[in-house]
Amino acid sequence: MQVKKLRRSRPWAVRVLASTLVLTAAVASVMAQNANQPWMNSSLSPAERAELVLKQMTLEEKIALLHGNGMAHAPQWQMPLTYLSNGGAGYVEGVKRLGIPPIFISDAAYGVRDSGANGRYSTALPSSLAAASSWDPQGACEYGALIGRELRAQGFNMSLGGGVNITREPRNGRTFEYAGEDPLLAGTIVGNLMKCEQAQHVIGDLKHFAVNDQETGRNVVNAIISKRAMQESDLLAFHIGLQIADPGAVMCSYNRINGDYACENTYTLHDVLKKNWGYQGFVISDWEGTHTTERASAAGLDQEQPMASYFGPALMQALKEGRVPIAEIDDHARRVLYAEFHSGIVDHPVEKGVVDVTGGLDIAQHLEEESIVLLKNEKAILPLNPKIRSIAVIGGHADVGMISGGGSAQVDPPGGNAIAPPGKGATHWQDHIWFPTSPLKALQAKLPNAKIAFDSGRDATATAALAKGADVAIVFAYQWQAEGMDLTTLSLPDNQDALIEHVAEANPNTIVVLETGTAVTMPWIGKVSGVVEVWYAGSSGHKALANALVGEVNPTGKLAMTFPKSDADLPHPVIPPLPAEDEGQGTGAVNGPTHSESKYTVRYDEGLKVGYKWYESEHKEPLFPFGFGLSYTTYAYSNLKTDNAQRTVSFAVKNTGKRPGTEIAQVYATLPEAAGEPFKRLVGWQRIDLAPGELKTVTVAVDPRVMSIFDEQNDAWSLLPGAYKILAGPSSGETPLHATLQIQ
Ligand code: BGC
Repeated sequence: MQVKKLRRSRPWAVRVLASTLVLTAAVASVMAQNANQPWMNSSLSPAERAELVLKQMTLEEKIALLHGNGMAHAPQWQMPLTYLSNGGAGYVEGVKRLGIPPIFISDAAYGVRDSGANGRYSTALPSSLAAASSWDPQGACEYGALIGRELRAQGFNMSLGGGVNITREPRNGRTFEYAGEDPLLAGTIVGNLMKCEQAQHVIGDLKHFAVNDQETGRNVVNAIISKRAMQESDLLAFHIGLQIADPGAVMCSYNRINGDYACENTYTLHDVLKKNWGYQGFVISDWEGTHTTERASAAGLDQEQPMASYFGPALMQALKEGRVPIAEIDDHARRVLYAEFHSGIVDHPVEKGVVDVTGGLDIAQHLEEESIVLLKNEKAILPLNPKIRSIAVIGGHADVGMISGGGSAQVDPPGGNAIAPPGKGATHWQDHIWFPTSPLKALQAKLPNAKIAFDSGRDATATAALAKGADVAIVFAYQWQAEGMDLTTLSLPDNQDALIEHVAEANPNTIVVLETGTAVTMPWIGKVSGVVEVWYAGSSGHKALANALVGEVNPTGKLAMTFPKSDADLPHPVIPPLPAEDEGQGTGAVNGPTHSESKYTVRYDEGLKVGYKWYESEHKEPLFPFGFGLSYTTYAYSNLKTDNAQRTVSFAVKNTGKRPGTEIAQVYATLPEAAGEPFKRLVGWQRIDLAPGELKTVTVAVDPRVMSIFDEQNDAWSLLPGAYKILAGPSSGETPLHATLQIQ
């Protein structure tokens, strides 16, 4: 017995001894390394570490951090080291001898890009605009964390996601990549998303800084906007996002702002971002958005991408000739190093792994379930009656899949495009890509006893016949969007308005499901019974939608942007057309040659009146207001109180219906008259889970950043003393509770 015990215990003892030795050796080696390389000591701050290592670097090593090395899959952007880029959008050399890793950069707006092209797999999440419609910072955190994990599993340690341009121009082809029209909502959602993404040890970013609010002529357009308006709208969204996420990088955009290119704009980069906001990370140019060496460097651009035309040998030359001081180069390099330490990519070297496919699909489904917005539900047509006998599913390729947003945001669907013409393999970034997520099949799985048939909508007679004979008709309508182009109108494309009217005439119980990247107009709204907005719904969108249609999920999402009645109601009824010499600069053609002489200008005279602020000041009634969304239950609001000292407001919300639900209760404020801004602003919100009959009192802190005005003369923010009108309710269009908050 004794012997046996000893025998057993010996290997254990040996193991302990061995691991102690290994551990001691590891500690010794870390200590030795720390002695030689003190910046590897993770108890120092990222700024201290960056400073220490910077002192050891040669000029060549510093400059290597300040430019890209081409872009995989882009024949026009190949350089000697592009092959090292892991198939990503960009690659920055590290400094191996000093333990500074290379930066492997990938696009990752709603998932990791180019996974198909690289023989890998990524989860497609619902679009960012969908995520914003959940008004859920925690959901945004899950969104970002998933992308962070998948980036690392695929060998990347830097993300190009974090789009936070507000929806000033809803026809902007990238609206789906952004988080809606309100600075507080957009900044909070994208900030939380990027905070949690960066927490996975990838350098996070926010983009496209700034006022990059349309794609038409994006390489030349001069956006004219007052400082006050810019500060209180577009820049505010970035600032809020930045304060939450503290991202390693901010990407400057292609356009010009008040005359200067965004990547050489002293006001936005130096004065606002770096000086006023105290930003410590680096500014990365959008891909080929760098135009000069000295100008850009002095204005605050830190890294050119994806090439080295201005921040490689040309920067070295400029230094030698005294046109760029060494202090500037040090500052650029220090910022890149800061981002590397701050995000943890030095301490946690990237290691490829396996993407958790099932886990990703579950998260994508849950996030989409939170993002679906129920816009109309007459006669309580939804949720579908469990005893329903027949459903006609019409149009939108609903038999095979759901559409996704294109451009550099595109996530490759597993197995390829669900409706690609036969023989067409690899996808182009401006192809319409349909994920193989069939809502028809998902609905059939949920309602096995109902007869659910599909019609493409192409033959009017067949469509009407199918619609007529069914208990309910569901029309799937889509609107495709992508980078490098804008929509010419918010009307549905491909005659879908006519299709919907036609189906509604055949069957009064018609529901429309919208798969869109932005708002759409609905000339048929009075003729249909239900409208469900699912956005670009991601890898599990079909399942989320089916759950919402049958009532297993009670819709909670609310619009993060206004849906206008017509294009004519927009601040700019048409996007100003490009002058002839700039043709090809945006509508379809991307990254065409830039014309620095271009006269193409967009005047944002509406200023900070973006979205709901515009409709309120212009007394234009929208089709659906910002913040709007129905539920299968109902809520009642009461008892608004303000606390002047704490700057909080409290009120009660009761679930007056029969189902549990989550209400997104919103608080708005109108500033004192002296502000000269007679429209309300979103100042806070809360998601409230409520059982049937339950009442909860919630307290919301009003956010001073959105109560303040920007004083151009003093170049400072000011929170005016006086009476602020507080409004609370279910949407910007319905605020039953009113009170006053006094600010001293
Ligand atoms: C886009 C960026 C993107 C970059 C790299 C540019 O065309 O504007 O958003 O990150 O390409 O793909």
